[in-house]
Amino acid sequence: MLTIAVSKGRIYEDALPLLAEAGIVPTDDPKTCRKLILATTRPDVQLVIIRATDVPTFVEYGAADLGIAGKDVLIEHGAESLYEPLDLNIACCRLMTAAHKDAPPLSGRIRVATKYVKIAQNYFASQGIQAEIIKLYGSMELAPLVGLADCIVDLVDTGNTLKANDLEPRELIMNISSRLVVNKAAMKMKHEAISALLTQFEKTLANR
Ligand code: ATP
Ligand code: PRP
Repeated sequence: MLTIAVSKGRIYEDALPLLAEAGIVPTDDPKTCRKLILATTRPDVQLVIIRATDVPTFVEYGAADLGIAGKDVLIEHGAESLYEPLDLNIACCRLMTAAHKDAPPLSGRIRVATKYVKIAQNYFASQGIQAEIIKLYGSMELAPLVGLADCIVDLVDTGNTLKANDLEPRELIMNISSRLVVNKAAMKMKHEAISALLTQFEKTLANR
């Protein structure tokens, strides 16, 4: 049995066509069903449905053989203990700093709200900027509006969320896409099945 960890929402939606090309179609829809383990049309493959930020943990401990996770989550988690053989080029966005559209260029010691504490710390250190990082779990865009932070580090796609909250993108930290990750022991023990799957994904991606 191969277990693949996927998060509900945009990664799941974007991953479905890729999985389908490999003959993997879940027999239940996680939007309407409360099951956390989904059987698929391939008797040797099941999906586990978890929070996006938990995917590296499940794969690292071998609770899932494979997983699909954003590069943002992988870097923040520290994913040296995982193989990352494929960029799936789905759920693409940018990790950026953003501030109020009327705010002057940031200088001196600044306060930054983000859920990407490690990435933000490394980024501002690399820029020689003294930053106090405030960890949030969502709605980062609110922080500059209520005086909690001078700027945020968050994901930007269309830019609509920033615009709707009178913020503007400032510096690009990195481009983000979702990656296939593989447990190291599973790569050895289930080599044949996993490499067949990788080959199939590669073929599908090459044809896009
Ligand atoms: P959690 O449930 O663990 O808090 P989350 O709510 O951030 O995670 P999603 O919003 O589904 O989960 O995001 C999952 C991944 O999709 C992110 O890690 C990122 O790689 C990518 N992503 C997030 N927001 C966007 C966006 N607006 N456009 C494109 N991709 C995005
Ligand atoms: C993500 C991200 C931004 C938004 C950016 O939030 O945290 O708020 O998308 O996308 P945009 O540039 O297209 O507006 P998400 O939709 O995942 O909401 P959440 O953080 O509450 O999960």
